[in-house]
Amino acid sequence: MEKGAKIYVAGHNGMVGSAIVRRLKSAGYTNIICRTHTELDLTRQSDVESFFAAEKPEYVFVAAAKVGGIRANSAYPVEFAVENAYIGLNIITAAHNNCVKKLLYLSSACCYPNSAEMPIKESALLSGAPEKTNEAYAMAKNLCLRLCEYYKREYNDDFVAVMPSNCYGEGDSFDPMNSHVIPSLIMKYHNAKLNGTEQIEVWGSGRPLREFIYVDDLADACIFVMENYSGEDHINIGTGEEISILELARLVSRTVGYEGKIVCDTTKPDGKMRNYIDSSKLAELGWKPRFGIEDGLKKVYGYFLSK
Ligand SMILES: NC(=O)c1ccc[n+]([C@@H]2O[C@H](COP(=O)([O-])OP(=O)(O)OC[C@H]3O[C@@H](n4cnc5c(N)ncnc54)[C@H](OP(=O)(O)O)[C@@H]3O)[C@@H](O)[C@H]2O)c1
Repeated sequence: MEKGAKIYVAGHNGMVGSAIVRRLKSAGYTNIICRTHTELDLTRQSDVESFFAAEKPEYVFVAAAKVGGIRANSAYPVEFAVENAYIGLNIITAAHNNCVKKLLYLSSACCYPNSAEMPIKESALLSGAPEKTNEAYAMAKNLCLRLCEYYKREYNDDFVAVMPSNCYGEGDSFDPMNSHVIPSLIMKYHNAKLNGTEQIEVWGSGRPLREFIYVDDLADACIFVMENYSGEDHINIGTGEEISILELARLVSRTVGYEGKIVCDTTKPDGKMRNYIDSSKLAELGWKPRFGIEDGLKKVYGYFLSK
């Protein structure tokens, strides 16, 4: 990617899209184009075609998506399936029709089958049914991911897709109804510190293991893949580091300065005991994360306080 190349970041106001724009700017890319949801509704095919025909972007990052937690995904499967399918299909076909040099499509590790062996390899995709609660999202994202591979196979288009693990950091939502694990823990421990709460319960045994990637590392990896990977298969983006839910709770409490007790409520279910992806393919290409979980938590807590 040349520094002056015309780069379109779809979803630039979102958590991942805004990190990609930040990273591109800091790396010296000067010709980045963006449109807000109001300016360009990516579910409208003719508008997307007109935008590509007028702007002729050379490189495209697809970080636009209808994203939500378990509750929203379960309540609105039609919207999650239809909007995500349209967004992906419209952008990917318009990129083909307008001779985009390279496109990177963001999917998510939550779209792997529920039954996939840990760590989840790229080859596990579509080897079983996705988690029921986000099936509609996963079906739409898997279709678009495969479409990148089909365009490559049939037309030799340089379209690649990535499957990142859970991400956290600047731009995360701290809405109590719709936040991921790390922002919800930060809010909980921060409020407990302010209220002098003596102890906080962690659901289950605290033993389940999870993997998290800081959003700036994810953005860096996306740009690395754009510049260094053109294989037909999609590629996982993770840190390769797991942390137990209890250890994460302890780290968050230390980060926010909460001094009360943390106890495990073993009457509550644990959920999946492990959930992490095999990122060895990306590591072999030479990419590695910059932020460990401790530094990442400090940064995201700083972001929370600044809001
Ligand atoms: N965050 C994570 O933990 C994570 C982890 C792995 C993979 N990913 C993947 O990364 C991608 C981005 O996720 P994110 O967390 O950055 O989501 P996000 O913060 O919700 O950002 C999504 C962006 O897409 C825009 N958008 C949605 N529908 C649109 C439409 N019809 N037309 C134009 N713009 C539209 C949204 O704009 P409005 O808000 O204005 O609607 C928003 O700016 C997703 O594909 C997700 O699966 C995320």
